Amino acid sequence: MINGRIGRAAELLSSAHAGIALTGAGVSAESGIPTFRGEGGLWSQYDPVKVASIGNFLNDPTAYWSVARERGPAVLSARPNPGHAALAALEEAGHLVAVITQNTDGLHQDAGTQRVIELHGSGRTVQCLDCGAREKRAEVQSRLATEMPPLCRMCGGIFLKPTVVLFGEAMPIPAMQEAFALARAADVMLVVGSSLVVYPAAQIPLAAVEAGAALVVINAEATPLDRHAEVLIRGRSGEVLPELAALMSPA
Ligand code: OAD
Repeated sequence: MINGRIGRAAELLSSAHAGIALTGAGVSAESGIPTFRGEGGLWSQYDPVKVASIGNFLNDPTAYWSVARERGPAVLSARPNPGHAALAALEEAGHLVAVITQNTDGLHQDAGTQRVIELHGSGRTVQCLDCGAREKRAEVQSRLATEMPPLCRMCGGIFLKPTVVLFGEAMPIPAMQEAFALARAADVMLVVGSSLVVYPAAQIPLAAVEAGAALVVINAEATPLDRHAEVLIRGRSGEVLPELAALMSPA
Protein backbone atom coordinates (compact mmCIF):
# COMPACT_ATOMS: atom_id res chain seq x y z
CA MET A 1 0.00 0.00 0.00
CA ILE A 2 2.80 2.41 0.96
CA ASN A 3 4.58 1.70 -2.34
CA GLY A 4 1.34 2.36 -4.19
CA ARG A 5 0.92 5.67 -2.44
CA ILE A 6 4.51 6.72 -3.02
CA GLY A 7 4.04 5.73 -6.65
CA ARG A 8 0.92 7.93 -6.88
CA ALA A 9 2.82 10.85 -5.32
CA ALA A 10 5.63 10.29 -7.85
CA GLU A 11 3.10 10.38 -10.70
CA LEU A 12 1.65 13.65 -9.47
CA LEU A 13 5.09 15.26 -9.08
CA SER A 14 6.28 13.95 -12.45
CA SER A 15 3.62 15.95 -14.25
CA ALA A 16 3.88 19.00 -11.97
CA HIS A 17 5.04 22.32 -13.39
CA ALA A 18 5.01 24.25 -10.14
CA GLY A 19 5.43 21.67 -7.38
CA ILE A 20 6.36 23.01 -3.95
CA ALA A 21 7.13 21.49 -0.55
CA LEU A 22 6.38 22.74 2.96
CA THR A 23 8.52 21.14 5.64
CA GLY A 24 8.46 21.04 9.43
CA ALA A 25 10.55 19.70 12.28
CA GLY A 26 9.85 16.05 11.33
CA VAL A 27 12.07 16.37 8.26
CA SER A 28 15.06 17.05 10.54
CA ALA A 29 14.19 14.43 13.18
CA GLU A 30 16.39 11.84 11.46
CA SER A 31 19.25 14.36 11.62
CA GLY A 32 19.01 14.19 15.41
CA ILE A 33 17.06 17.40 16.03
CA PRO A 34 14.08 16.79 18.34
CA THR A 35 10.66 17.88 17.06
CA PHE A 36 8.47 20.31 19.01
CA ARG A 37 5.36 18.18 19.48
CA GLY A 38 4.73 14.49 20.00
CA GLU A 39 6.70 11.97 22.01
CA GLY A 40 10.05 13.38 23.16
CA GLY A 41 9.13 16.74 21.58
CA LEU A 42 10.66 19.92 22.94
CA TRP A 43 7.29 21.26 24.10
CA SER A 44 6.73 18.20 26.31
CA GLN A 45 9.87 19.28 28.24
CA TYR A 46 9.48 23.05 28.11
CA ASP A 47 6.61 25.51 28.08
CA PRO A 48 6.87 27.24 24.69
CA VAL A 49 5.45 30.47 26.01
CA LYS A 50 8.09 30.57 28.75
CA VAL A 51 10.98 29.49 26.55
CA ALA A 52 10.25 30.80 23.11
CA SER A 53 8.19 33.95 23.43
CA ILE A 54 9.59 37.38 22.74
CA GLY A 55 8.07 38.69 25.99
CA ASN A 56 9.91 36.12 28.02
CA PHE A 57 13.14 36.61 26.10
CA LEU A 58 13.09 40.34 26.84
CA ASN A 59 12.20 39.69 30.46
CA ASP A 60 14.85 37.03 31.04
CA PRO A 61 17.38 36.36 28.24
CA THR A 62 19.29 34.01 30.55
CA ALA A 63 16.30 31.63 30.72
CA TYR A 64 16.13 31.55 26.92
CA TRP A 65 19.86 30.93 26.53
CA SER A 66 19.89 28.22 29.22
CA VAL A 67 17.63 26.11 27.00
CA ALA A 68 19.58 27.14 23.88
CA ARG A 69 22.81 26.06 25.58
CA GLU A 70 21.39 22.53 25.93
CA ARG A 71 19.62 22.29 22.57
CA GLY A 72 22.20 24.19 20.49
CA PRO A 73 24.89 21.53 20.04
CA ALA A 74 22.48 18.97 18.48
CA VAL A 75 21.16 21.61 16.07
CA LEU A 76 24.52 23.12 15.17
CA SER A 77 26.21 19.78 14.53
CA ALA A 78 23.28 18.26 12.59
CA ARG A 79 23.83 17.18 9.00
CA PRO A 80 21.18 16.80 6.29
CA ASN A 81 19.56 13.35 6.14
CA PRO A 82 18.39 11.44 3.04
CA GLY A 83 15.02 13.27 3.22
CA HIS A 84 16.70 16.67 2.79
CA ALA A 85 18.86 15.25 0.01
CA ALA A 86 15.82 13.85 -1.81
CA LEU A 87 14.05 17.22 -1.72
CA ALA A 88 17.17 18.88 -3.16
CA ALA A 89 17.24 16.23 -5.91
CA LEU A 90 13.56 16.84 -6.69
CA GLU A 91 14.28 20.55 -7.12
CA GLU A 92 17.39 19.89 -9.21
CA ALA A 93 15.34 17.62 -11.51
CA GLY A 94 12.67 20.32 -11.92
CA HIS A 95 9.90 18.57 -9.97
CA LEU A 96 9.86 21.17 -7.21
CA VAL A 97 10.32 24.90 -7.65
CA ALA A 98 10.91 25.70 -3.97
CA VAL A 99 11.00 24.38 -0.43
CA ILE A 100 9.12 26.45 2.15
CA THR A 101 10.22 25.54 5.64
CA GLN A 102 9.22 26.21 9.22
CA ASN A 103 12.64 24.93 10.28
CA THR A 104 15.44 27.28 11.27
CA ASP A 105 18.26 24.73 11.10
CA GLY A 106 19.55 25.51 7.59
CA LEU A 107 19.67 21.83 6.60
CA HIS A 108 17.75 22.27 3.32
CA GLN A 109 20.42 24.73 2.17
CA ASP A 110 23.17 22.37 3.34
CA ALA A 111 21.57 19.58 1.30
CA GLY A 112 21.71 21.76 -1.81
CA THR A 113 18.15 23.10 -2.20
CA GLN A 114 18.53 26.43 -4.01
CA ARG A 115 15.23 28.14 -3.24
CA VAL A 116 14.45 27.84 0.45
CA ILE A 117 11.87 30.12 2.03
CA GLU A 118 12.38 30.28 5.78
CA LEU A 119 9.05 31.18 7.36
CA HIS A 120 10.39 31.20 10.91
CA GLY A 121 13.79 32.74 10.20
CA SER A 122 17.25 31.24 10.59
CA GLY A 123 18.80 29.95 13.79
CA ARG A 124 22.32 30.23 12.40
CA THR A 125 22.60 33.96 13.02
CA VAL A 126 22.17 36.01 16.17
CA GLN A 127 21.34 39.70 16.24
CA CYS A 128 21.76 42.31 18.96
CA LEU A 129 18.39 43.98 19.56
CA ASP A 130 20.20 47.12 20.80
CA CYS A 131 22.74 47.90 18.06
CA GLY A 132 21.70 45.48 15.30
CA ALA A 133 25.13 43.76 15.07
CA ARG A 134 25.00 40.18 13.78
CA GLU A 135 27.12 37.21 14.76
CA LYS A 136 27.16 33.57 13.88
CA ARG A 137 25.10 31.48 16.28
CA ALA A 138 27.95 28.95 16.49
CA GLU A 139 30.26 31.66 17.87
CA VAL A 140 27.75 32.73 20.50
CA GLN A 141 27.13 29.07 21.38
CA SER A 142 30.83 28.54 22.07
CA ARG A 143 30.89 31.16 24.82
CA LEU A 144 27.71 30.10 26.64
CA ALA A 145 29.69 27.99 29.11
CA THR A 146 31.26 31.13 30.59
CA GLU A 147 28.91 33.96 29.59
CA MET A 148 25.24 33.91 30.46
CA PRO A 149 23.42 35.63 28.93
CA PRO A 150 25.80 36.12 26.01
CA LEU A 151 26.75 39.75 25.42
CA CYS A 152 26.94 41.65 22.17
CA ARG A 153 30.58 41.93 21.04
CA MET A 154 29.88 45.38 19.58
CA CYS A 155 27.91 47.20 22.29
CA GLY A 156 27.82 44.87 25.31
CA GLY A 157 24.01 44.60 25.09
CA ILE A 158 22.30 41.67 26.79
CA PHE A 159 19.59 41.08 24.18
CA LEU A 160 21.34 38.87 21.65
CA LYS A 161 18.54 37.06 19.86
CA PRO A 162 18.74 34.36 17.21
CA THR A 163 17.15 35.60 13.98
CA VAL A 164 14.20 33.26 14.43
CA VAL A 165 10.54 34.14 14.91
CA LEU A 166 9.62 33.76 18.58
CA PHE A 167 6.02 33.44 19.77
CA GLY A 168 4.54 36.92 19.83
CA GLU A 169 6.75 38.20 17.00
CA ALA A 170 5.62 39.10 13.51
CA MET A 171 6.25 36.67 10.69
CA PRO A 172 8.73 37.89 8.02
CA ILE A 173 6.41 39.52 5.48
CA PRO A 174 8.52 38.93 2.30
CA ALA A 175 8.83 35.21 3.11
CA MET A 176 5.09 34.92 3.78
CA GLN A 177 4.20 36.74 0.57
CA GLU A 178 6.55 34.54 -1.45
CA ALA A 179 5.19 31.36 0.17
CA PHE A 180 1.55 32.25 -0.48
CA ALA A 181 2.28 33.32 -4.06
CA LEU A 182 3.96 29.94 -4.65
CA ALA A 183 1.02 28.15 -3.02
CA ARG A 184 -1.51 29.91 -5.24
CA ALA A 185 0.49 28.94 -8.34
CA ALA A 186 1.27 25.36 -7.25
CA ASP A 187 -0.11 22.29 -8.97
CA VAL A 188 1.32 19.87 -6.39
CA MET A 189 1.85 20.70 -2.71
CA LEU A 190 4.02 18.28 -0.74
CA VAL A 191 3.89 18.64 3.05
CA VAL A 192 6.56 16.77 4.99
CA GLY A 193 7.14 16.36 8.72
CA SER A 194 4.82 19.02 10.08
CA SER A 195 2.06 18.70 12.66
CA LEU A 196 0.30 21.52 10.75
CA VAL A 197 -1.06 23.09 13.89
CA VAL A 198 0.91 26.34 13.75
CA TYR A 199 -0.60 29.16 11.72
CA PRO A 200 -0.11 30.96 9.38
CA ALA A 201 2.28 28.25 8.08
CA ALA A 202 -0.49 25.63 8.11
CA GLN A 203 -2.60 27.94 5.96
CA ILE A 204 -0.16 27.56 3.05
CA PRO A 205 -1.26 24.03 2.03
CA LEU A 206 -4.89 25.11 2.34
CA ALA A 207 -4.23 28.05 0.01
CA ALA A 208 -2.63 25.65 -2.47
CA VAL A 209 -5.57 23.24 -2.30
CA GLU A 210 -8.07 26.07 -2.72
CA ALA A 211 -6.15 27.16 -5.83
CA GLY A 212 -6.41 23.64 -7.25
CA ALA A 213 -3.18 21.92 -6.18
CA ALA A 214 -3.05 18.23 -5.30
CA LEU A 215 -1.94 17.81 -1.69
CA VAL A 216 0.50 15.07 -0.68
CA VAL A 217 1.11 14.68 3.06
CA ILE A 218 4.11 12.69 4.32
CA ASN A 219 4.17 12.53 8.10
CA ALA A 220 4.80 10.09 10.94
CA GLU A 221 1.33 10.75 12.44
CA ALA A 222 -2.05 12.22 11.56
CA THR A 223 -2.41 15.94 10.83
CA PRO A 224 -5.50 18.18 10.76
CA LEU A 225 -5.14 18.62 6.98
CA ASP A 226 -5.09 14.89 6.14
CA ARG A 227 -8.68 15.01 4.92
CA HIS A 228 -7.62 17.44 2.16
CA ALA A 229 -4.84 15.14 0.96
CA GLU A 230 -5.01 13.38 -2.36
CA VAL A 231 -2.17 11.14 -1.19
CA LEU A 232 -1.46 10.43 2.47
CA ILE A 233 1.79 8.65 3.35
CA ARG A 234 2.38 7.72 6.96
CA GLY A 235 6.11 7.22 7.43
CA ARG A 236 9.53 8.69 8.05
CA SER A 237 10.60 11.37 5.62
CA GLY A 238 14.18 10.05 5.51
CA GLU A 239 12.82 6.80 4.08
CA VAL A 240 9.78 7.92 2.08
CA LEU A 241 11.35 10.87 0.23
CA PRO A 242 14.35 8.95 -1.21
CA GLU A 243 11.95 6.24 -2.37
CA LEU A 244 9.76 8.89 -3.98
CA ALA A 245 12.75 10.61 -5.66
CA ALA A 246 13.98 7.26 -6.97
CA LEU A 247 10.64 6.67 -8.72
CA MET A 248 10.69 9.98 -10.55
CA SER A 249 11.38 10.40 -14.20
CA PRO A 250 13.14 13.64 -15.21
CA ALA A 251 10.83 16.66 -15.58
P1 OAD B 1 6.07 19.66 15.15
O1 OAD B 1 7.04 19.20 16.16
O2 OAD B 1 4.84 20.33 15.61
O3 OAD B 1 5.61 18.43 14.26
C1 OAD B 1 6.52 17.54 13.70
C2 OAD B 1 5.73 16.46 12.97
O4 OAD B 1 6.67 15.62 12.33
C3 OAD B 1 4.89 15.59 13.90
O5 OAD B 1 3.57 15.48 13.37
C4 OAD B 1 5.59 14.24 13.88
O6 OAD B 1 4.68 13.15 13.90
C5 OAD B 1 6.29 14.28 12.54
N1 OAD B 1 7.53 13.50 12.45
C6 OAD B 1 8.42 13.20 13.42
N2 OAD B 1 9.47 12.52 12.93
C7 OAD B 1 9.22 12.36 11.60
C8 OAD B 1 9.93 11.74 10.52
N3 OAD B 1 11.10 11.15 10.69
N4 OAD B 1 9.36 11.78 9.30
C9 OAD B 1 8.15 12.38 9.09
N5 OAD B 1 7.45 12.97 10.07
C10 OAD B 1 7.97 12.98 11.30
O7 OAD B 1 6.89 20.56 14.12
P2 OAD B 1 6.36 21.71 13.14
O8 OAD B 1 5.08 21.33 12.49
O9 OAD B 1 7.51 22.07 12.28
O10 OAD B 1 7.59 27.44 15.58
O11 OAD B 1 6.09 22.87 14.16
C11 OAD B 1 5.71 24.12 13.67
C12 OAD B 1 6.27 25.22 14.53
O12 OAD B 1 5.93 24.98 15.90
C13 OAD B 1 7.78 25.31 14.56
O13 OAD B 1 8.33 25.96 13.43
C14 OAD B 1 8.01 26.09 15.81
C15 OAD B 1 7.07 25.36 16.72
O14 OAD B 1 6.60 26.06 17.80
C16 OAD B 1 8.30 28.45 16.05
O15 OAD B 1 9.28 28.28 16.73
C17 OAD B 1 7.77 29.79 15.65
